[in-house]
Amino acid sequence: MRVKCNVLEKESVEAAHEAVLKAYGKCDILINCAGGNSPKATTDDEFFDQSVLEAQDKKSFFDLSADGFDNVFGLNLTGTLLSTQIFGLDMIDKPGSVILNVSSMNAFRPLTKVPAYSAAKAAVTNFTQWLAVYFAKSNIRVNAIAPGFFSTAQNAKLLWNQDGTPTARTEKILNNTPMGRLGNPEDLLGTLLWLLDNKASSFVTGVVVPVDGGFSAYSGV
Ligand SMILES: NC(=O)c1ccc[n+]([C@@H]2O[C@H](COP(=O)([O-])OP(=O)(O)OC[C@H]3O[C@@H](n4cnc5c(N)ncnc54)[C@H](O)[C@@H]3O)[C@@H](O)[C@H]2O)c1
Repeated sequence: MRVKCNVLEKESVEAAHEAVLKAYGKCDILINCAGGNSPKATTDDEFFDQSVLEAQDKKSFFDLSADGFDNVFGLNLTGTLLSTQIFGLDMIDKPGSVILNVSSMNAFRPLTKVPAYSAAKAAVTNFTQWLAVYFAKSNIRVNAIAPGFFSTAQNAKLLWNQDGTPTARTEKILNNTPMGRLGNPEDLLGTLLWLLDNKASSFVTGVVVPVDGGFSAYSGV
């Protein structure tokens, strides 16, 4: 069964929770995966240059809107908060309960152009640790996965030109990923199953596991 909800709206998540409860009973696994970036919180430049202030067609840090930042923080952080409050209550003292958040390798070191997304994922990492401590005596483990670069709907414009060739940013990413490729969704499965399996990771809580082909370990030199 699939149930749609908007993680930005409490009533919507509550309705999804009701539907899941009715169909399956109390949940014991929550994966907080909804997330993404916004063009309103993305700069065109990697480094500030005075000329950008006169350029009409370039978006610098000074053109970003607080709304754009709020949206990105809402989707990545507040969405994780609301879902955890609404589904997490069922998990208290339910053996084997586990929450898995989706952070990003940009939480360790921010990526250029996406300040809100980087900061919001850093917040997700921090919140994961906070929740892990808070629920440690209530039988809920809380961990996160930090994917490297995977080509998906949200980053397609940053990664690919319209003719399907890699952008300059993609070339840069590949040069900075020791394994020399983008991730495939299947690359996440082993870590996902390990962190959800209460036997395999019974004493693991509060960790954020990079699945990034070595990107976050590589200094580039
Ligand atoms: N693609 C990458 O390289 C990459 C890297 C690191 C982390 N991530 C994270 O992985 C997760 C999945 O992203 P993806 O790359 O598959 O992108 P995606 O855009 O394909 O998926 C994002 C998902 O979030 C859902 N979503 C968006 N707004 C929502 C809302 N208000 N309520 C409920 N659901 C909503 C979308 O329907 C979609 O299913 C995100 O948290 C993203 O930040 C992705």
